[in-house]
Amino acid sequence: MKTMYWMDNHLFLLDQTKLPDKVVYFECKTYGDVIHAIKTLMVRGAPAIGVAAAFGMALAELAGENLEKVAREIKEARPTAVNLFWAVDRLLEADSALDEALLMYEEDIETNRAMGKHGAKVVDDGDTILTHCNAGALACVDYGTALGVIRAAHDEGKRIKVVCDETRPVCQGARLSVFEMQQEDIPVKLIVDSAAGRLMQEGKINKVIIGADRVAKGGVANKIGSLMVALAAKRFKVPFYVAAPKSTFDYENSIYDIEIEERDPDEVLYFGECRVAPEGTEVENPAFDVVPSDIITGIITEDGILEPF
Ligand code: MRU
Repeated sequence: MKTMYWMDNHLFLLDQTKLPDKVVYFECKTYGDVIHAIKTLMVRGAPAIGVAAAFGMALAELAGENLEKVAREIKEARPTAVNLFWAVDRLLEADSALDEALLMYEEDIETNRAMGKHGAKVVDDGDTILTHCNAGALACVDYGTALGVIRAAHDEGKRIKVVCDETRPVCQGARLSVFEMQQEDIPVKLIVDSAAGRLMQEGKINKVIIGADRVAKGGVANKIGSLMVALAAKRFKVPFYVAAPKSTFDYENSIYDIEIEERDPDEVLYFGECRVAPEGTEVENPAFDVVPSDIITGIITEDGILEPF
C-alpha cells in the first residue's frame, strides 16, 4: 500500500482519515486539491506533507500557474512541519517542478532506510519501544522515520515489541501506527496516552522513539503529548530518541518562536462521530508541543545520531 503515487499527471494520496477501515485514494488534479488534502489530514506527517506539496507545485506547473503565488498558498496549508516550506522553496529553485518532486519522492525512501540503519544500533534485542503519533511509512513516502528504525531493527532479527500511544485527538497512533505494525507482523500493543507514564514507572518500556515536525534551536516540535512522554521518560531514565530527516531541521529559528498549529475544537469535542463534551464547552487544541533539547537522548538522522542543538 502506497502513501502516495503519481500517475497520468495526477497525484493520488491514500486518504488517511479513512484508515484503518477503508483504503481509498484521493485524486489530486490541481494544487488546490493538494492543499485541501494537507489541511484535512488526508495526507499528514512532516515528510509526506513535504513531498505532497512538491507534487502540488508540479500540478501547478503543468497547469501553467504562477509558481511564486502557488508557493505562498501551499505554505499556508499547515504551519508547523518545516518540510512543507523546505519542499516548496526547493521546488521554486528547480528547472522542472515535476522532475524535482519525483526526485524528492525517491530521496525520501532512501533517507528513511539510512535513518533506519543508524537508528537500529540503539535498539537492543528484547526492547519494548514506545512511540507516539505516527512516524511511519504513512507519514512519509514509505518506510517511516521512527517506525522505520523499528522496521530496520526487526529486519535485523531483533525481537522487539512496540507500544503505541493512541494519540488523541486524531488517533494517529491507534489508527495508523498499530495498523502499520500489524501489517509488518511486529508485536504491538495500544495504550491510552495517559498510560505512558505508568508503563515507564513499571519498567515496561526500554526506549521511546518518536518522529518530529521540526527540529530547531532548543528542541523538537512533535505531536501534542510528546512533551509529557519525554518528561516521564526523563523521570524513569528511559532513553528518548527522535528520528527525523535533515529536511525537518530548521537551523534558523528557536523552537519557541515557531507557529504551533491550533486545530478545530471538534477534534476534541467528538470521538469519531460521538460527541463527548457538553454543548458550549471551551476547547484549546494545539496540534503539537515542544520537547526541550536537554531531555532528548539523541536525534536519529540519515547521517547518523546527532545531538539536539
Ligand atoms: O498532525 P500530523 O499527523 O501531521 O502530525 C504528525 C506528527 O506529529 C509526526 O509524529 C511527525 O510529523 C513525524 S512524521 C515522520
